[in-house]
Parts: sequence; C-alpha cells; structure tokens
Amino acid sequence: MSVLYRSDAARTQVWARFFAAYAPEIDFRTWPDNTGDLNDVEYLVSWHAGAEFLASLPNLKVLFASGAGIDHIDFDAVPANVTVVRMVEPGIVNGMIEYTTMSVLALHRNLLDYADMQSRAQWRPIPVIPASARTVGVMGLGVLGQAVLERLGVFGFRRAGWNRSRKTLPGVECFAGDESLPRFLAQCDVLVCLLPLTDATRGILGARLMSLLPRGAALVNVARGAHLDHDALLSALDSGHLSRAILDVTDPEPLPDDHALWRHRRVLITPHIASMTQPDTAAPVLLANLRRHMSGQPLHDVVDRRRGY
Ligand code: NAP
Ligand code: GLV
Repeated sequence: MSVLYRSDAARTQVWARFFAAYAPEIDFRTWPDNTGDLNDVEYLVSWHAGAEFLASLPNLKVLFASGAGIDHIDFDAVPANVTVVRMVEPGIVNGMIEYTTMSVLALHRNLLDYADMQSRAQWRPIPVIPASARTVGVMGLGVLGQAVLERLGVFGFRRAGWNRSRKTLPGVECFAGDESLPRFLAQCDVLVCLLPLTDATRGILGARLMSLLPRGAALVNVARGAHLDHDALLSALDSGHLSRAILDVTDPEPLPDDHALWRHRRVLITPHIASMTQPDTAAPVLLANLRRHMSGQPLHDVVDRRRGY
C-alpha cells in the first residue's frame, strides 16, 4: 500500500517531510522521481487527475484532490470504485475569509474609487455608509460560504445567504432553492459567489441574475470563472447597474490580453489567489482522513459524483 503525492517541487518537499516525521509507517512516494511501482499506489494526492495518469494507477482506491473545488476533474476517467475526496482544511478556509473580507471592505469603504481618484490626483471624500446599512449576500453556504459570513458579522453587515438545501446560520437570513433567488438578490449590496461549478451553476452569474440585484450592487466572484457571463458583467457595469466587480477567477485563466475586463476601470482582477491549500495545515488533515480509511472508518469530505461537488 502506497500513497503517491503529485504537485510542484516546493510543496512536495513539505509533504514528504511531514509524512516522514508523523507517519513513517506509510510508504509515501512523490511524483515524478520517487513513484516506485505504480501498481502499489492505492492513494493519490493530486490536483492533476488526467485520464492517462489515472490509467497508470490500476489499484487506486482514493483520489485526494488537492483543492476545494473538483470541477477540473474528468469523472469519466476516474474508475467508479475510486472515491474522490476534496480538500477541506483550515488554510483554505482562512485564505478565503481574508480575501472575501478584504474585498467586501474595499467595496464598502470605496477603496477602489479612491485608487482611481489618486491616479487623477483627485481629493473627493465619499460619504461613509455604516456597515449596518449594507447587505452582503453569499451564494453557496458550504464550508467557505459559512466561514465567510460568520466573519463578516464582526463588522455589523446585514448578512444573507442562498443555498441549494436549507441552512440555519446565526444572524444570517438564509434562502434555499431557485425559487427564492430573486428575493435573496433583491437585498444584496455586495454579492459574493462561493458556489461549486456544476451543470446547475455554470453561467449562473448572468444577465438575469444581475438584473435582480439592486442598482449599484457589486459582485465578488471567488468561485469559478465559468459561473460568470463576462459579457453580461460588462453590460451591467457599463450601464451603471453594477458598480464594481472583484474577480479572483475568470474563464479562461488568464483572460486573453485584449479582453475588455482587464482594462475595465470598475473591475479588479486577481490571479486565482483568494485561497490555496496550505501544506502545513492540509497535511495533518489529510493524514487523519487517510488513517480513517486505512482503519475501515468512513472518509470525510467525499465528493458526491452525482451532484458534482
Ligand atoms: P462546499 O462546502 O461543497 O459548499 C458548496 C455549497 O454550495 C453547498 O452549501 C451547496 O449546497 C451549495 N450549492 C451547490 N449547488 C448549488 C446550487 N445549484 N444552488 C444553490 N446552492 C448550491 O464547497 P466550498 O468548500 O465552500 O467551496 C466552494 C467553491 O469555492 C469551490 O467549489 C471552489 O470552486 C471555490 N474555491 C475557490 C477558491 C479560490 O481561490 N478562488 C479557493 C477554494 C475554493 P448544499 O449544502 O445543499 O449541498
Ligand atoms: C481553489 O480554487 C480550490 O478549489 O481549492
């Protein structure tokens, strides 16, 4: 029984050191130089899960995806008997809390307007609106959406959340299902997307959804670029219906050099860095889950292939 880890050299070193120190009994192998006989590999830790690579691992039991989102995985290439587990670890959660809080506060306190003004040597104070007079809405009340909403409560924002199944979160007005989407959107001054990318959510941030937001609302997309209809966003920004967008993800990544979003003065783009798996916090979580499986207990954070997340 072996574990194969596949990532860049720097991360590989951290993971290999961790397993050597805390799980010396586990045969931990690394790609590409220390894979040994691939027939031994029962556990794979990897972002990359291409068909050819998976076909080289005939005895694979569990694929531990190294990210929270698993939409890049071609499930047709993952044998039905292989369980896919996604990454849920404190480093990803904290990164997302930081990025989303930063974005919401930047929008709330007009930071991007002031950056614009500074570039024109302009001094023009904008009246401050109290946080209690603004609603931040989060789409997707999973591990990340819940964590983000909880932290935003510290600032006194009104908070709303929209989800497939019904959730109850302290201090958050929760909406469930497609039918409730218009009522949810109608109150969002800042809309944060933290949905997984599935057939049901692809393109969800489109013209109709934007038209249901209050005039002047802002969008933060930290989920996946394919959730967003980029042309609809450009139209909504240009008509003034939306005031700003902060995009950590785009489709494709990166956008072509001549894409209008790159140079739009109401858009801030970051290169998919909102939150990343942190080896120091992820390795202990994964080891605990691996040990659960090895001792016959059910795994945590298993992906439901039918739902697609
Ligand atoms: P998660 O725990 O699986 O939560 C997903 C949530 O979305 C669940 O609460 C789910 O509802 C809800 N949902 C799914 N389909 C829906 C639909 N059709 N309508 C309404 N709600 C729906 O995922 P997570 O860990 O919070 O991560 C969310 C996403 O963030 C990831 O999939 C990834 O794409 C993105 N992400 C981005 C970055 C970045 O750096 N930009 C980093 C990490 C993750 P139920 O509760 O009913 O299942
Ligand atoms: C990053 O986008 C992730 O899904 O972990």
